Amino acid sequence: DGVMKTWSGEVHTVLSPICIKTENGLERKVIGSYPLCGEEEAMASLDAAIRAYNNGRGEWPTMSVAERIACVEKFTGKMIAKKQDVVKLIMWEIGKSWADSVKEFDRTVEYINATIDALKDLDRKSSGFAIEQGIIGQIRRSPLGVVLCMGPFNYPLNETFTTLIPALIMGNTLLFKPPKHGTLLHYPLLEAFRECFPAGVVNTIYGRGNVIIGPLMESGKINVLTLIGSSKVANQLKKMHPKVNRLRAILGLDAKNAAIITDKADIDLAVKECVLGSLSFNGQRCTAIKIIFVHRNVADAFLEKFAAAIGQLKFGMPWEKDVFLTPLPEPHKPGYLQSCVADAAAHGARVINANGGAANASFVYPALVYPVNEKMKLYREEQFGPVVPVLPFDSMETPIDYLIESDHGQQVSLFTNDAVELASLIDPLVNQVSRVNINCQCQRGPDIFPFTGRKDSAEATLSVFDALRAFSIRSLVATKQ
Ligand code: G3H
Repeated sequence: DGVMKTWSGEVHTVLSPICIKTENGLERKVIGSYPLCGEEEAMASLDAAIRAYNNGRGEWPTMSVAERIACVEKFTGKMIAKKQDVVKLIMWEIGKSWADSVKEFDRTVEYINATIDALKDLDRKSSGFAIEQGIIGQIRRSPLGVVLCMGPFNYPLNETFTTLIPALIMGNTLLFKPPKHGTLLHYPLLEAFRECFPAGVVNTIYGRGNVIIGPLMESGKINVLTLIGSSKVANQLKKMHPKVNRLRAILGLDAKNAAIITDKADIDLAVKECVLGSLSFNGQRCTAIKIIFVHRNVADAFLEKFAAAIGQLKFGMPWEKDVFLTPLPEPHKPGYLQSCVADAAAHGARVINANGGAANASFVYPALVYPVNEKMKLYREEQFGPVVPVLPFDSMETPIDYLIESDHGQQVSLFTNDAVELASLIDPLVNQVSRVNINCQCQRGPDIFPFTGRKDSAEATLSVFDALRAFSIRSLVATKQ
């Protein structure tokens, strides 16, 4: 509360996905509000970041690695002190279960600590001198400049920090725009940013993307764009930059991860992992399994067990014990998902499980849709919600051709218990996507492993180690012997 008017004068009211009964029926609960930056405030923040960077001569980019680490450690301590506030806001703002909101917070702290360790290691390795052909050289990692950082609503803290923290700790200065669904939860951390970093190093901007991001990109003064979101938006933003060849883009984008279940698979295991893979956090993960290919010989058994497993999932409010399915933060999502199911039905598929696709203001009950074909929206579109399209196949060519023709290339889950079949499939699969999961669901972590994608799914790689490299340049200080 305590609404403060800005120059642009607009105030955004935050609606939770958690609904309350009103005389008009179910309505999303108002949980707060914040003033929106307009173009003027966004450009003032950009100026602050530019001044703090000062063409690489600012206090932050010239600080020693040890000093920058000390600032981030101080920030982490203050962040931990705000854990309850942040976790509560994750739950209320995006409808993530309490248990998963706690996990998101803890994973973020672990990520920061792992980043600090990785940087110490990197610094140790690069602080020595090498002599080669009469040249003495010291290889360094130097910052890139001003970073525009935007995170996604599904991991508004954790995934945002997987870019924000490495960008920061490498000596860059930042403009940070939290996701529209997932802004309030950053509020408890603003004071810590102010107290732990020199002025202008972290500038948080709250505003409508379509009002403030365009002018920032068009200024040509953003050196690095980092976004976890859609490839369409990323391409639009890159095009706005007047010198796009000077812009580094570090992007985690769309995905349509497939599970492939052969007739040599353990069906119970495949069902268990595909339920987790497709429906954890209501399917709102870029790494979610978003289409399933099942061999025709085992399709009936798989569908029957999958439908039964959905029936066992607890559907409810995020604070309820053992809840698995929770309300969706994006107001358009229930209508969109129902339109996908209707489109599939119009092209010959049916919903296999009882109540599949039923929806109210912010809930959608999972729908298992079969048999999906290429005429349906669910075949190619990233549904990012609790609808699970399934296709039968007779030959392995079918799922492999799907991957080859896809615009995405993040991950695949392959289910088979046959070592010979497995061996023959690893190369064809890993040469199409960036991670093959054997007999388990798709996922991002552990965070020391590379996380990226081919085609429209990513630009750059985001592991703890890779991110430090992505947000810096390998530079050299050299002299003759
Ligand atoms: O939304 C994409 C996230 O990176 C998924 O992360 O696999 O750990 O849930 P996760």
